[in-house]
Amino acid sequence: MKPFVFINIASSVDGKISDESRRQLKISCDEDFKRVDRLRAESDAIMVGIGTVLADDPRLTVKSEELRRWRVEQGRAENPIRVVVDSRCRIPLNAKILSDEAKTIVAVSKLADRNKIERLRQKADVVIFGENKVDLTALMKYLYEIGVRRVMVEGGATLNYGLLKEGLVDEIHVYYGNMIVGGAKAPTVVDGSSFNPPIELELISVEKLGRGVLTKWKVLSHRYSR
Ligand SMILES: NC(=O)c1ccc[n+]([C@@H]2O[C@H](COP(=O)([O-])OP(=O)(O)OC[C@H]3O[C@@H](n4cnc5c(N)ncnc54)[C@H](OP(=O)(O)O)[C@@H]3O)[C@@H](O)[C@H]2O)c1
Repeated sequence: MKPFVFINIASSVDGKISDESRRQLKISCDEDFKRVDRLRAESDAIMVGIGTVLADDPRLTVKSEELRRWRVEQGRAENPIRVVVDSRCRIPLNAKILSDEAKTIVAVSKLADRNKIERLRQKADVVIFGENKVDLTALMKYLYEIGVRRVMVEGGATLNYGLLKEGLVDEIHVYYGNMIVGGAKAPTVVDGSSFNPPIELELISVEKLGRGVLTKWKVLSHRYSR
């Protein structure tokens, strides 16, 4: 069994999620930030790759006080669990995602340094899945076992690829901001190597939001059966 997994990402019209510097780029608008905050509040866990932690140093908490209160009224923690996919345990110990506002799980592989894991355990739960890379299927199974039913993936390009490759993604929500970024080396919604044949999607909805467009897609080709 695995949780419901959806990727939420902001992209330029040409498919880039940052520029060649790989630093955080403001692609979406205030209307979209509010939508993302609501999605976070409705999720049990928010997942990111270590590339995103190193590039953007995100906090990944619910920003709206009202939404945090709404969660607490339902008997849940103020913020969803934050999950970092980090095979070699490269996460800096002062990363904002390790703040005490929310529980954090760092998923590493057997390659990770034991001393670093022990130090990290003072700030986060550390789970070990996979030999060289984090075994994402085993991680999702574990999350389901600890009660996580809805996972929101907030990038980046390589984690999105890994999850899609393993057939673990149910939906993709792409907000297209009103810009073209360009750059052959800029990260895209999905990096890695091409899927052959391409993964087929079914359009769920299209909506004009702020100065851009929100599209929601259901992933049709699924290797993993729930
Ligand atoms: N526009 C947006 O909405 C948005 C959102 C998020 C991020 N971003 C941008 O995306 C960029 C970061 O993307 P990224 O591709 O460099 O990093 P990423 O997807 O955040 O993290 C990728 C890393 O995760 C680790 N990993 C461990 N096991 C994995 C597995 N099974 N499959 C895939 N990855 C695995 C790998 O590093 P190890 O092998 O070392 O573990 C891999 O390099 C930044 O520029 C950021 O600003 C944009």
